[in-house]
Amino acid sequence: MEIKYRFIHYNSIFLTMNPFFPFPFPPPQKVTFLYDGKQACRLVFSMLTRIKDLAIKLAPRLIEIRRHIHSHPELSGEEYQTAAFVAGVLSSSGVHVQEGIGKTGVIGELEGTGNDNRLLAIRTDMDALPIQERTNLEYASRQQGIMHACGHDVHTTVGLGTAMILSQVAEELPGKIRFLFQPAEEIAQGANWMVADGAMENVSAVLGIHVFPSIPAGSIGVRYGALTAAADDLEIIIIGESGHGARPHEAIDAIWIAAQVITTLQQAISRTQNPLRPVVLSIGKINGGRAPNVIADHVQLLGTVRSLHPETRASLPEWIEKIIANVCNSYGASYQVNYRQGVPSVQNDYVLTQLLQSSAEEAFSSDRIQVLPEPSLGAEDFSVYLEHAPGSMFRLGVGYKDRSINHPLHHPQFEVDESAIITGVVTMAYSAYKYWAHG
Ligand code: NI
Repeated sequence: MEIKYRFIHYNSIFLTMNPFFPFPFPPPQKVTFLYDGKQACRLVFSMLTRIKDLAIKLAPRLIEIRRHIHSHPELSGEEYQTAAFVAGVLSSSGVHVQEGIGKTGVIGELEGTGNDNRLLAIRTDMDALPIQERTNLEYASRQQGIMHACGHDVHTTVGLGTAMILSQVAEELPGKIRFLFQPAEEIAQGANWMVADGAMENVSAVLGIHVFPSIPAGSIGVRYGALTAAADDLEIIIIGESGHGARPHEAIDAIWIAAQVITTLQQAISRTQNPLRPVVLSIGKINGGRAPNVIADHVQLLGTVRSLHPETRASLPEWIEKIIANVCNSYGASYQVNYRQGVPSVQNDYVLTQLLQSSAEEAFSSDRIQVLPEPSLGAEDFSVYLEHAPGSMFRLGVGYKDRSINHPLHHPQFEVDESAIITGVVTMAYSAYKYWAHG
């Protein structure tokens, strides 16, 4: 009777009273068995019900954790307090902890009781941005000029919540789970540091999460294939010959040639790159020149190059250099090109994306799951892990449904609807539980 009472309680009272509870529980199964030779029965709750139950109970604590992390943001590579806090929460949940992985990263491991030797990793990132927060939240950043404006406070909280829940059902996990709390995502270094310290050793699959303000809280987005772009750095140096501004024919004007290089690159993208395989090249910084009446002999251009397809990306350094060479040769300038490969494109694995989608559809109603039609040309170093194991990252909706404006990521007034934390935790924990059965 006690269990039955709990069931009625959740569905009728909790459902309507608790703002963090946007979903119904599946009904328990009635299992009959013999007890002392007599027919008896009991209600058996599914793993999904247990996970939701634990998530609801944890909700106040998770909100508290998220607000604590939000108030105490730390820049990339300096996540000392955040890492210590994460390690403390993991240890008190019975998760085995290793600190100082990838400089300021933390690894937590949870042993399952089964004998499936596939190891599932769950990655969340912990760093904040050099932005002065301009929200009026009572738990706004206490660090001058540093803000969790990309939602990594939410990611860390979801990672912790997932670990707290799964540690309580560990006896039913067929295999082992490794939680990766990564530093320095914003400078695209942390994943490399973690991998260099062995974070991906023996990992069979990896799941990730990123908040998304244009999806309402309570919903998630999954995407098959490319989720984010490869992001490479470009430096171009044009070397001309200085001269009097009144006598251009006696000089080689590096500023004018730099302008030709930029224009030709943008035109060449539209005429020589496959329009179905996007390439974005943006020059964001120009340095050059000495005085208004002196022709510049040296210009430096700095930019970013984004692409989605690995083959396209591989061809870009040579393609860019050829265009620059043609322009410079035409006007007698020399040049240098430094093309540095940054993070690759996140390519979500089909089977693991299906795992996320089906788990979330089972947990919530299917109209809350969006299959995203388009990737983003933003970058995400989750892709570094995908060079070692297949994986999938989903987008967690954090937008307020009743607000006309949800400020974008990296905005000083970026805010999240915290009810999304439970959606994230349930999606991650249930997907993790189902991973070994999903194949
Ligand atoms: Ni981010």
